[in-house]
Amino acid sequence: MSIIKTQTTFQFTSNKTSIFESTVNRTTLKNKSDILVIGAGVAGLTFAIKMAEKRPDVSITVLTKTHEGESNTRYAQGGVAAVWNHQQDNFKKHIEDTLDAGDGLCDEEVVAMVIEEGPKMVQEIIEWGTRFDKGKEGSYDLGMEGGHSENRILHYKDLTGWEIQRSLVAKVKTFNNITFLQHYFALDLITQHHLGRNKTRLNNDIECYGAYALNKESKEIETFLAKQTVLCTGGAGQIYKSTTNPVIASGDGMAMVYRAKGRLANMEFIQFHPTSLYNPAGENPSFLVSEAVRGFGAILKTSDGKEFMQKYDERLSLAPRDIVARAIDKEMKERGDDFVLLDCTHIDKEAFYNHFPTIYDKCMSIGIDPMIDLIPVVPACHYVCGGVLVDKMGNTSIKNLYSAGECTCSGLHGANRLASNSLLEGLVYGNNISIEIAKNIDGTSIQEGIPDWNAKGTTEPKELVLMTQSQKELKEIMSAYVGIVRTEVRLKRAMDRLWLLYNETEMLYSDSVVSPQICELRNLITIGYLVSKAAQFRNESRGLHFNTDYPEKYDYLETTLL
Ligand code: FAD
Ligand code: SIN
Repeated sequence: MSIIKTQTTFQFTSNKTSIFESTVNRTTLKNKSDILVIGAGVAGLTFAIKMAEKRPDVSITVLTKTHEGESNTRYAQGGVAAVWNHQQDNFKKHIEDTLDAGDGLCDEEVVAMVIEEGPKMVQEIIEWGTRFDKGKEGSYDLGMEGGHSENRILHYKDLTGWEIQRSLVAKVKTFNNITFLQHYFALDLITQHHLGRNKTRLNNDIECYGAYALNKESKEIETFLAKQTVLCTGGAGQIYKSTTNPVIASGDGMAMVYRAKGRLANMEFIQFHPTSLYNPAGENPSFLVSEAVRGFGAILKTSDGKEFMQKYDERLSLAPRDIVARAIDKEMKERGDDFVLLDCTHIDKEAFYNHFPTIYDKCMSIGIDPMIDLIPVVPACHYVCGGVLVDKMGNTSIKNLYSAGECTCSGLHGANRLASNSLLEGLVYGNNISIEIAKNIDGTSIQEGIPDWNAKGTTEPKELVLMTQSQKELKEIMSAYVGIVRTEVRLKRAMDRLWLLYNETEMLYSDSVVSPQICELRNLITIGYLVSKAAQFRNESRGLHFNTDYPEKYDYLETTLL
């Protein structure tokens, strides 16, 4: 049985994104293109390339809020999971592993679709110039990660994401019909609400006409109008104190959709990666020690040098992430330790260095020799399994708005993402959206008469310190009360604190000239709220959501809709 909870009213939202209610600033430029893509990681770039190939006659504008090389994609270490060695592996096994990790909440049709389409997309990016490591005999060297029953991770050393970002950016630049704009910060979607019609799961009777974006160099806010908008803005790890995500991961796209009254789902499922490098200096982001290191033989131990994973799962250090992260959290709390240890000392040095040069060098840079010392590691926020609700073709609940990648909830990951399935998801959904848009782009037109962003009455913020402090507070709240282990009292406390932060920030926002800093803060607070609220809704423990007041699983399944 599938029961859906809905949250229709949210006191933390503003209606600024409706074109009739827009309070806005100063716009100097109206940019028009057939398709606007917000985000230039694996999902956005794959979409742009596939679309440009299919329809050289349509114009595509891609925005990134930072430079072309920066994204979550760029930091991916382990690799891309895909069934490659058909003598050993098959789709059924990869599907079963994904469903098992997802703890009953995956959409089985979506899982089958992504896993069966995935290898074709991996083959395409190889043809576009992406390199993956090969073994001595010339076939791809397939790595192992937690929750996988076979070696199926294609990788480029421990820099797979960097290599994918590099090759996709290079490919995008070969198309004349793609305009790639760096340092453009999308502020809000431009939407029109058709009130009074019926709402369904994926139809809120809202239409999207593009987005307002801040040109970070000129400081002007520009209006980007498009027939179709594709949102690929990535994750939101920066809501936590300790995260593997770069500082740009502030959930902007998810928050924009929420403000536009679109549907999000399953926001309570936040994946904590079990092994980020322990660094008392509190680096942001935390450096990741890839799960592929455990796939290569490394073993988790407590500070007294004893293995502990046998107490939790027969797959030991290679159990799915939710299980390993919770086990580490428990061991650390029971022992009063600040970290656990990853033992790589039995691994051949040359092989380790060839596979993990970045991890080796990083450890050495802080005085840890992985071949001699055990590496101190702690769980850190890594991935948001929920997000903008999409169907198999990337349609959102807002007409003419599509979405792909980490900012979405597609049904692939369920309650816990299987390692290395997200790059695959970005590739497959980027392609699917290009198929969908190619079918319907000719039937849509650009909306005229959109008002400019209105900056009336806003001034440069005098109290920058307030923004910095609010962001710190948000991270403290989320880490203390909405972490790996949750309780009702902690969640209630988080909601009360977030309400205060929300009100203070909205006041600051309405008086301030728009800046990336105030917008990211506002978006992060919205995401913090959505994660906490969704966690309050789920009165059970499943996958990444563990609430000691509800330690059992329901016998029926449910998606949390927001
Ligand atoms: P991203 O790659 O994050 O791209 C988002 C884009 O949106 C960026 O260009 C950003 O600038 C832009 N953007 C965001 N907000 C705005 C805005 N307001 N205006 C304009 N532009 C905006 N997954 C795997 O499958 N395998 C792995 O081995 C793996 N390792 C990982 C290691 C690390 C350290 C991390 C952090 C993640 C890892 N992941 C891995 C997860 C995976 O990298 C991401 O889920 C995936 O790359 C997300 O891709 P994306 O295209 O959705 O978003
Ligand atoms: C890792 O290399 O451990 C990250 C893999 C992932 O997040 O999918």
